[in-house]
Amino acid sequence: MWFQVDKSSRKTLTQQVYEQLINYILDGNIKTNEKLPSSRELANSLGVSRNIILEVYDQLVSEGYLTVIPRSGTFVAPGSMINKIKYQDTYKEKLVHEEPSKDIIDFKAATPAMDHFPRKVWGRLAKEVCYEASDSIFGYQSSEGLLELREELSKYLHINRGVKSTSEQIVITSGATQALSLITKLLTSNGEYIAVEDPVTDEMRTIFSYNGASIFPVPVDDKGINPEHLSQESPPGFIFVLPSHQFPLGGTLTVQRRIQLIEYARKFNCYIVEDDYDSEFTYEGTPVHSVQGLDPERVIYVGTFSKILSPTLRIGYVVLPTSLIESFKKLKWYTDRHNSSLEQLILTRFLKDGFLDRHVRKMKRIYKQRRDTLVNSLGRHFPDCTILGQAAGMHLVVEFHSIEFTKKLIKSVEEESNVKIYSVDQYSILKGSHLNKIVMGYGSLSAEKIEEGVKNLKDAVSVYMQTGRRLN
Ligand SMILES: Cc1ncc(COP(=O)(O)O)c(C=O)c1O
Repeated sequence: MWFQVDKSSRKTLTQQVYEQLINYILDGNIKTNEKLPSSRELANSLGVSRNIILEVYDQLVSEGYLTVIPRSGTFVAPGSMINKIKYQDTYKEKLVHEEPSKDIIDFKAATPAMDHFPRKVWGRLAKEVCYEASDSIFGYQSSEGLLELREELSKYLHINRGVKSTSEQIVITSGATQALSLITKLLTSNGEYIAVEDPVTDEMRTIFSYNGASIFPVPVDDKGINPEHLSQESPPGFIFVLPSHQFPLGGTLTVQRRIQLIEYARKFNCYIVEDDYDSEFTYEGTPVHSVQGLDPERVIYVGTFSKILSPTLRIGYVVLPTSLIESFKKLKWYTDRHNSSLEQLILTRFLKDGFLDRHVRKMKRIYKQRRDTLVNSLGRHFPDCTILGQAAGMHLVVEFHSIEFTKKLIKSVEEESNVKIYSVDQYSILKGSHLNKIVMGYGSLSAEKIEEGVKNLKDAVSVYMQTGRRLN
C-alpha cells in the first residue's frame, strides 16, 4: 500500500489510517471512481487488524468520501478531490516576520504601560467576584451589559467627561473597535459614507472600510477637524471625530468647531461619532469635556478601557442617542450576544471601590514622567523640532523642519538603530502633507528606553542624511 502506520505514534492506528486515506482522496492520489483495496488486503499490507480498516471505511462512507457498490467493492465517491492551496508555508513565514525583535525600541502610539496593570487588585476582585456572584451570572445576560456596570459608568462619565446619559443609553462592547464596527453597520446600511478626520488612526479607518463604507477625508489642523470642508450637498451617515485628543496630531477641537459640527449634524440629520480614547491622561489644564454633553441626541460617544487599563480586557462602551438604543442592542446580540459578565462584574467593583480613580492618578504621574523625558530628550537631540499635541494621552507628534520621513528613512532608522517610528503621513488619507512629522508613543516605554531611543534615532537620521540621501 502507499502509506505506512507508525505504531509508536501518539495517534491511534485508526486515526492514522483515516487521516492518510482522506489526504490521498482529497489530493486526488486515488481518483474518483477508483476502487480501494479490500479491507483484508489493506489490513495485511499495513499490518493492522481488519477491524480498523472496516471502521475507517465505514466512517469515510458516512462522510461521503467513499461509496460501496454491493458485490463490486468500495470506490472513491465523485467530488471528493480538492485543489489544495499551500497556506502553511506563508503562514509560518508571516509569523516569523511578525515576531518583534526583543531589543527594538518601539515608539508605537496608544500602547499603555503593560508593566503597571493593577494585577494584585484585579486578581483579588476576580476571585471575590467568582465566588460571590449569583448563579445567574453564569448564564446568558442581555446584550447591553450588566446594569451595575452601566450605572457606574454613567456616573463616571458624567463626572469626568461631562457625558449626559442614563444607564439605558449605554451598551458595553468588545472595545471601541466593536462599537465602531456596529455603528458603521447601523448607520451606513443604505450606502451612506463616513466623514473622517485626515490624518486619523488607520486602524479605526480600516474598521469602516472593512464594513463596506466609503470614507470622505476632512482635513485637520491645530484646532481639530475643520467643519467647513464637510459637504453641503450630500451629508455623511456620520462624522467620526477624536475631539479631546486628535490622533495622531494631538489637537483639541475648539468649542466653535464643536458647535459648528453639531449644527451641521442637526441641519443634515446625521450623527457625530466621538471616540474619546485617552483623554483621562491630561497633563496640562483640565480635560476638555465631551462633545456628547452638548447634544446627546446627535452625538454617539465611544469609550474604551484599553488605554486607561489594558486592551486585554476587551471592554469598551457606547453611549447612544435614545433613537438608536434598540437597534444597536439587537446588532450587538446577533454579533456576540454580550461581553463576559464576570469581567464586567470585576470592572464594576474596580470602579465602585475607587480603584479606577487611584489607577488613573498613578498612571497620569507615570505617563507625565515618560512624556517629560521624551520632550526633554527631543529638545536636546533635535533642538529645531516642534512638538505638538503633548498636553494629553500617550503620544505626541514631532515636526521637523528639514527632514522628510519617507518609508526608506523609517526603514533605515529601524535597521540601523533598532528604533521604530511612525510617520504622520502613514495615517493620512491624502498623502504628502505630513511627511515632516512623526508620531511618538511613550506609554509603554521606560525613561531609559525613551532616552536611548531618541539618541539612536538622532544617530540613525544623521547617518542617513549624510549617506543615504546621496545613495538615492
Ligand atoms: C483612536 C482609537 N480609539 C480607540 C482605540 C481602542 O480600541 P479598543 O477599545 O478596541 O482596544 C484605539 C486603539 O488603538 C484607537 O487608536
